[in-house]
Amino acid sequence: MSVSVSLEQIVSLAKRRGFVFQSSDIYGGLNGCWDYGPLGVELMNNVKEAWWRAMTYRDDIEGIDASILMHPRVWEASGHVGSFADPMIDNKTSKKRYRADLLIEDEITRLQKKGKDEDAVTLQGKLEKAAAPEDYYQIIVDNGIKDPVGGTDDWTEVRQFNLMFKTFIGPIEDSSAVVYLRPETAQGIFVNFNNVYQSSRQKVPFGIAQIGKAFRNEINTRNFLFRTREFEQMEMQWFVKPGDDEKWYEYWLEERQNWFGEYGISSEKLRVKPHPYDKLAHYAKAAMDVEYEFPFGWGEVEGIHNRTDFDLAQHAEFSNKKMEYFDQAENIRYVPYVIETSIGASRSTMMFLIDAYDEDKVGGEKRNVLRFHPKLAPYKVAIFPLIKKEGMPEFAQKLHKELQKNYKSFYDESGAIGRRYRRQDEAGTPFCVTVDGDTIEDGTVTVRDRDTTEQLRITAEGLGAWLAERV
Ligand code: GAP
Repeated sequence: MSVSVSLEQIVSLAKRRGFVFQSSDIYGGLNGCWDYGPLGVELMNNVKEAWWRAMTYRDDIEGIDASILMHPRVWEASGHVGSFADPMIDNKTSKKRYRADLLIEDEITRLQKKGKDEDAVTLQGKLEKAAAPEDYYQIIVDNGIKDPVGGTDDWTEVRQFNLMFKTFIGPIEDSSAVVYLRPETAQGIFVNFNNVYQSSRQKVPFGIAQIGKAFRNEINTRNFLFRTREFEQMEMQWFVKPGDDEKWYEYWLEERQNWFGEYGISSEKLRVKPHPYDKLAHYAKAAMDVEYEFPFGWGEVEGIHNRTDFDLAQHAEFSNKKMEYFDQAENIRYVPYVIETSIGASRSTMMFLIDAYDEDKVGGEKRNVLRFHPKLAPYKVAIFPLIKKEGMPEFAQKLHKELQKNYKSFYDESGAIGRRYRRQDEAGTPFCVTVDGDTIEDGTVTVRDRDTTEQLRITAEGLGAWLAERV
């Protein structure tokens, strides 16, 4: 991205161009849920495809697709029933509910904006040490943090709120029928460890990857696709011999950062941030966030975690089934350690959308352009007949149908050619092809590059091969 863009601009473009709509829009929307439109579903599918290829088109990682509803014991074993909770606080006057840690984070941002850097650092230090609900409460009271809506400071105590959505399986709504919508896809991988390892005959180290929906009853949803209640994750669990975990943790940290670079995210927009030891999730020995600089500040896009043997050991205990690996060469059995890479498909789709946004001038006229990596662009090519006569629409339609066998292609014959280019620039289509009078004579077409706006002439026949090299 070479211009700064606000989140409001992105949300508005996303709606106008059909990337993302508020869920149940005609009923006023459903908070924390979003629908992907014609361009958005292509973009997100391409993001998922890019990840799936990088992670599973190799010999040592297998893919799976586990169900969203799982046995309730899974979430007891994983620790989510006991400790997957956020600190929640209510304001008595405004009746607004907040995540206590985010309320403090907002105060830190406010202090920074006011130039009170020292106070911000002190508050950040206190926040990093907070663990129990009382700690958050004390910080809010001691620092006189007020309700951002009502401006008062009459707070309730802080309570822990479990983020899992509960529902019931079958017709009877009693406690024996409770199931949860999975809050992470990872557990579907852990419970299938034996199945995958035995059926695929993989040897440690190896991985299992999965893409799928996850659900969290977030106290405050915010920042468009950043924190939602329904979202998609792309997770990979890498099983290693205990003792080799630290080496593999470093390996995956580097691999995953390279992936962002391959799809055009510049390194200045990315940083890695370790989780402080006393803030680690209940399962982790070490954790690192890969953060992107969003319009609202730095935010986590991916987490790399050393989950040790926590999950497999817990499932072994709760299910009474062995979750072990037998190393034939060394004739030893052990519970593997796990290095996890966990990225939000929806959150990273928003990152790619924001990162692609640019504005420039073409022929003295301002244009909005989405400079997606060609592999991520929703449409790869658009085909235009210059005018609606002299055989041009027929030729263009034929070319479009031919290309559509391999690429998402868009056909447009309406309006001036300049306006058609602008529409595709804003959709992020990397190449626009124009069929004109010469095409009918000599079979050549004009290809216009989205980023440089330069045009070149090639044969229509050679277009498929030309595109194959670029998208
Ligand atoms: N299995 C580990 C795990 O779930 P996490 O850090 O809680 O770790 C991983 O989540 C990624 O999932 C995050 O980096 C983020 O991209 C995405 N994610 C988590 N909560 C989300 C939410 N409420 N909305 C959108 N994406 C979310």
